[in-house]
Amino acid sequence: MYLTPEEEKLFNGERGATYQKAIEILTALGDIYGADRLIPIKSAQIAGVSYKTIGDAGLEWISDLKGKVAVPSILNPAGMDRECWREMGISEEFARKQEEIIRAYEALGVRTECSCTPYYIFDNLAGYGDHVAWSESSAISYANSVIGARTNREGGPGALAAALIGKTANYGFHLDENRKPVVLIEVEAKLHDSDYGALGYIVGEMVGDRVPLFKLKSKPSKDELKSLGAAMAASGAVALYHVTGVTPEAGKYETPAEKITIEERQIRDVYTTGEPDLIAFGCPHSSVSELERLAQLFNGKKVKKEVWVCTSRALKNKHPELIRRIEKSGAKVFCDTCMVVSPASERFACMMVNSGKAHKYVPNLCGGVRSIMATTEACVEAAVR
Ligand code: F3S
Repeated sequence: MYLTPEEEKLFNGERGATYQKAIEILTALGDIYGADRLIPIKSAQIAGVSYKTIGDAGLEWISDLKGKVAVPSILNPAGMDRECWREMGISEEFARKQEEIIRAYEALGVRTECSCTPYYIFDNLAGYGDHVAWSESSAISYANSVIGARTNREGGPGALAAALIGKTANYGFHLDENRKPVVLIEVEAKLHDSDYGALGYIVGEMVGDRVPLFKLKSKPSKDELKSLGAAMAASGAVALYHVTGVTPEAGKYETPAEKITIEERQIRDVYTTGEPDLIAFGCPHSSVSELERLAQLFNGKKVKKEVWVCTSRALKNKHPELIRRIEKSGAKVFCDTCMVVSPASERFACMMVNSGKAHKYVPNLCGGVRSIMATTEACVEAAVR
């Protein structure tokens, strides 16, 4: 892999051990995946924030790094709401460690908004054709597919290394040839809202890490595309998809020869029933329009069960009246975290979600909590019943 004279200096440790370690990570990835060089990135989104997932070893690794990120960089959700962690049932010990992790990132110049939807917070992180290094799977999918930016599925250390150097290795989804669809998904049903998460839940398992092109009978909103991509990234490893007539790169490519047809019955089969003791919305973090919809659905009602709505702190702070309308029902709006990455959900037996991604992850990552997938309306009904 070619390195510029300036990159060689970093590689030889002339700017210290942190930058040397960072460029070693990038060149090692580049060598494995056949990159020719490093390319500049516009932003980084760094996973590996929750103390639940990285533990003391992760905290130690980040704390040992000395330097500053070279591009705007933002964190993935942490293991707790940084203000309301007691209300979530988080222990003092966990909260202390979690704050240490966030402060260690902050010392490196990383912004401490903890969200998997950074594109709702900052306009300038990624635009069409921009190279970025993002590492939360739903954010990666959104950046590649909906925005038309270019990122690989970076691991937490890879994204942090890219943030420190301001570059990433030129391979995978940074290259035109890897962005073309290889399988056509024809959906014979009109979809709405959480149906897109259900569709992603099915299709991710079928296509693995390949690039699908969807032909749909309905036109998805950006929130619905977010749900579709998040679910496919969880049940499979889809980092990029196209939707004919909707996503920005779909028209650039020929229709793939391989075709999978999805029938309405398959979508319906993803939905399940049961008695939840926690109902959680906001995977990925809720947008303003999703919060508005919840405020309308909960209007004049009182929840009878524990209800969480996850969003970013930036949106919560910007829309206090909207948050107040949701909280009036007794639902709790949590920021900086989510129902999957926080250990707080592990004290419940059964979680109802309207997200294909959460439905996939909850049973595996939340200490045995069962999951029920339902429409947004059914989740609200279950909450107030
Ligand atoms: Fe975001 Fe947590 Fe879902 S990080 S995509 S809300 S699992």
